[in-house]
Amino acid sequence: MIRAVVLISGRGSNLAALLEAALPVEFAAVISNRPQAAGLAYARGRSIPTIALDHRDHVERSAFDAELMRHIDAYQPDVVVLAGYMRILTEAFVARYAGRLVNIHPSLLPSFPGLDTHRRALAEGVKIHGCTVHFVTNQVDHGPIIAQAAVPVLPDDTETTLALRVLVQEHRLYPMALRWLAEGRITVTNGVARVSGQASQALLAPIPGDHADLSA
Ligand code: GAR
Repeated sequence: MIRAVVLISGRGSNLAALLEAALPVEFAAVISNRPQAAGLAYARGRSIPTIALDHRDHVERSAFDAELMRHIDAYQPDVVVLAGYMRILTEAFVARYAGRLVNIHPSLLPSFPGLDTHRRALAEGVKIHGCTVHFVTNQVDHGPIIAQAAVPVLPDDTETTLALRVLVQEHRLYPMALRWLAEGRITVTNGVARVSGQASQALLAPIPGDHADLSA
């Protein structure tokens, strides 16, 4: 059993997927930089301690992160899990949790770091999109890739339909990756993450409506 602290900013659907997955993980606390985040209520409903730390109460990003680190460290986590946490992290924060700080991002990194990933994927006309779980480094939405899930982009997709297709895969991918972490199976060499005993670190979503013809 490893101990995790989860950071969120909003809805918390990835948090919910992690909590529902019966992982060998003790979720010690959920912290949000937005007091109204729906994910906080969800965690409270699961009797997990929650902390709301409003980033608007701190002028300096470094002061907010220092306060955040103080709260996180009180739980002595083995891993800090970013699940829809929408704040840029200071170098001091990333350094403190280096190697045990993970994030999920709604694109196939290194494509589309940053915001509005689904809109940008549609604008580029990519045919494959997806999500990535990775270790966090000082470069935003960059770092050793633990696992990825790919989905097709369909001709009539909107930002909403594409986001939903990716989100379904996020909810499969993050529990899988956190389980590997809990089992101590992930190593990083020269910036590349590998999982022992795992031939592939990718999930592929089937193309909706596309069925192999087995009648021939
Ligand atoms: C998720 O799609 C997650 O990948 C994304 O925010 C959403 C949070 O949803 N994270 C990022 O964009 C981080 N760069 P949730 O609160 O329902 O899990």
